[in-house]
Amino acid sequence: MPEPLGLRIAGTGRAVPERVLTNQYFAERMDTTDDWIRTRTGIIERRVVSEGESTATLATAAAQEAISDAGLVAKDIGLIIVATATPECFFPSTACFVQDALGVGPTPAFDLSAACSGWIYAFLTGAHMLQSGHFRNILVIGAETMSRIVDYEDRATCILFGDGAGAAVLSATPDTSGPCVLHQELAANFSGMSLLSIPAGGSRLPASHMTIDERLHYLKMQGREVYKLAVKKNFEMVDSTLAQAGISAEDIAVVIPHQSNLRIVESARQRLGLAPEQMFTNIHKYGNTSSASVPMGLDECRKTGRVKSGDLVLMVAFGAGFTWGSALVRL
Ligand code: UT7
Repeated sequence: MPEPLGLRIAGTGRAVPERVLTNQYFAERMDTTDDWIRTRTGIIERRVVSEGESTATLATAAAQEAISDAGLVAKDIGLIIVATATPECFFPSTACFVQDALGVGPTPAFDLSAACSGWIYAFLTGAHMLQSGHFRNILVIGAETMSRIVDYEDRATCILFGDGAGAAVLSATPDTSGPCVLHQELAANFSGMSLLSIPAGGSRLPASHMTIDERLHYLKMQGREVYKLAVKKNFEMVDSTLAQAGISAEDIAVVIPHQSNLRIVESARQRLGLAPEQMFTNIHKYGNTSSASVPMGLDECRKTGRVKSGDLVLMVAFGAGFTWGSALVRL
């Protein structure tokens, strides 16, 4: 097994828009019910941006909270990585918008695209950059405005997604006997293209009257097929992490999974024999916020005292691509 990566999650933050969409909002506008949404997904409400808000405004708010939580100021940040599937625009990157809003000068900044697994990819990228010795503090953000890419005429997808951002400041540590990344996994498999994608708007199928008429700029998902794979991958990632790290389920303080569907999370928990308090969920209040869901969960666990220094925390995510990844950290 590779050497652990020494790093400390020095601070975390999260931000969600004020506007709430309840299940009733959808029930009044399309052929669905509060009961269907609750029982099939676990979602009760989600947050969505209003005019003037965007991925970068949420990302910046979460970043400011994380920096302050770490006891730092913006100028202490040496690198900004933003995981997002809903960037401000093709370019400049959302990370450049955040850099400007934070007022940190010429700090390097870039976006990372891995859909719902994006923050795990960004977190591990940041961890390896820290290990290079060139940076002391790295800001890793997951931020999404899913409400800007879901089709509010498609009842099978629009009820699932919400907006939000989560951020963490990773700081270098001198040794690996304290806080560190103990185990990691990253993977991708292009088979996801036909099951979960936004078909148009990129170089493959640029915007045209046809793409707009056919609603091809919206997220398209074959939910049932994605569901089956998500259940399988969530289970496999936790199971293989336990085996490869040489630990048992009881050693984990909490698993923070991507919040895609309560039934997906619950099915993995039961198969793994984890206690309910060992599996974090907050999908009931935010829905699926794609790359933001894991860092938002991490922040909530830290701020509510659900995890403490020295605890083992396992973060896992599966999403479009397909991409998937996990990171086992000692806080
Ligand atoms: O974050 C990236 C990863 N994303 C995920 O992992 C999401 C994975 N998928 C899911 O969470 C679930 O598949 C859904 C929640 C999207 C759908 O739940 P399901 O139990 O898989 O339902 P289904 O797609 O098999 O559809 C069952 C029925 C269908 O009607 P018929 O064909 O049986 O008559 C759908 O048309 O439910 C219908 N349906 C709805 N009914 C009421 C689909 N959406 C709705 C709705 N309200 N909003």
